[in-house]
Amino acid sequence: MAKVAMISPSILAADFARLGEDVKDVCARGIDYLHIDVMDGAFVPNISFGPAVMKSLLGYSSAKFDVHLMIEGPDRYIEKFVTDNTEFITVHYEACPDLASTLEHIHSLGVKAGVSIKPGTAPEVLDEFLGDIDLVLVMSVEPGFGGQKFMPDSLNKIRYYADKKAAEGYSYIVEVDGGVSSANAEIVREAGIDLIVAGSAVFKAPDRTAEIIAIRGEAMK
Ligand code: DX5
Ligand code: ZN
Repeated sequence: MAKVAMISPSILAADFARLGEDVKDVCARGIDYLHIDVMDGAFVPNISFGPAVMKSLLGYSSAKFDVHLMIEGPDRYIEKFVTDNTEFITVHYEACPDLASTLEHIHSLGVKAGVSIKPGTAPEVLDEFLGDIDLVLVMSVEPGFGGQKFMPDSLNKIRYYADKKAAEGYSYIVEVDGGVSSANAEIVREAGIDLIVAGSAVFKAPDRTAEIIAIRGEAMK
């Protein structure tokens, strides 16, 4: 049996008109992190929300923020996403011409650093940085929109990072994002995932608690 995974529901699929209540609701159902999808209309063809919206959730979220910056020039904005509740800030490899310095920037603010790769990016590009990365985010859809279909090629990338971590003793966690639900979570867990992002699957589920348990592979203790 595949190991239990952690879950990070993406608020992109929440009801923005009642965001605080929606966040409170999923937090009460046993989640590990809250996934914050930030889109700038340039790195991806969609605009979501910025740091002010994330900060407005501080009184509503009992889960730590897992921030996913789908923006160009992320160094300009990293600091604005740092709060006492921010655990990870993840940037895109494709948006960082000097990744080593961006990682250093995130760490200098006392936050854990994640790096994401798009479906067309080879996993080996992160090899030289793995010792300085706290979270590797494998995109299993083209970033930009929720509700897309899971790309099965991403399973090989998850295996790549899970195997490398075991073989070489790295401490990063492996996260997957896009098109994951209770219908396919098990194959993702079998590939060795640590943390699963799920937007529409959780927020649109008729029974959110059951969906969360099924995606994790077990209820939280
Ligand atoms: C896509 C975002 C994802 C997305 C996941 O660009 O990064 O986090 O919201 O949504 P679902 O789970 O609906 O595919
Ligand atoms: Zn995301």
